[in-house]
Amino acid sequence: MGKIIIDKEILMKRTRIVAGNWKMNKDFEAGLALASEIIPMIESEVQHDLLTILFPPFIHIHALASLSAGKKQFAIGAQDCSAFESGAYTGEVAAAMIKSAGADYVLIGHSERRQLHSETNAFCYEKLKRAFEAGLKPIYCVGELKEQRIAGAFEDVIIDQLSGALQKLTTREMERLVLAYEPVWAIGTGLTASPEQAQEVHAFIRQWLATQFGPDISNRTSILYGGSVNAVNAKELFGMPDIDGGLVGGASLKSRDFTEIAKANH
Ligand code: PGA
Repeated sequence: MGKIIIDKEILMKRTRIVAGNWKMNKDFEAGLALASEIIPMIESEVQHDLLTILFPPFIHIHALASLSAGKKQFAIGAQDCSAFESGAYTGEVAAAMIKSAGADYVLIGHSERRQLHSETNAFCYEKLKRAFEAGLKPIYCVGELKEQRIAGAFEDVIIDQLSGALQKLTTREMERLVLAYEPVWAIGTGLTASPEQAQEVHAFIRQWLATQFGPDISNRTSILYGGSVNAVNAKELFGMPDIDGGLVGGASLKSRDFTEIAKANH
């Protein structure tokens, strides 16, 4: 009998993801129109294995989930969820409600939430718990400010954001988590981290995962890069060994640009 050779590369293959964070853009009609362009364009032009996740404002989730129903290479997510389960929290949307509207993912800890809504790592941990309880898969975002990078402090900032929100998660929860590294100085500024700068931080995050949760979690967690990703710079960024895809803001609002970014991720 021949020896069975297990190809570790295949076993450890991480999900490649391109996620579009629409932020607070597009009214209902315009959002439907954009998704109606993006979905068939990616379907016909992207031949490789890729998960495309659209993160529209809450009001679009149900309609977009219907548009993408039955298409395994697409998923819909929310840009945030409440840290509470249900009750008297005016204006909040619970993770379970998001799931019931047809979403499978949720962004947690985006720098705009941290900066504009004073969200702390401990608060992000509560949101992560609600997301897991509801059956959502979170994309947890980390990233340093410009001053912190200039001061050479990015490692401390990233460790703080990772350990402050993830340390108490179980292995089973970690298996459902996606991470995104988004240097705040690169978001919406047109300044992108160079592929080498991004790779350095992604490798650092993967090392942290290995130390905290072991090599298996570290090897299979998809880590996305975000911050002025566009159709021109995507290929080089996605070519780095620890960059598994992108969390795209501005360029996700244009179907052609977003499709080109999707095509670049293989
Ligand atoms: P950007 O946004 O691509 O417009 O820089 C990225 C993000 O904030 O997720």
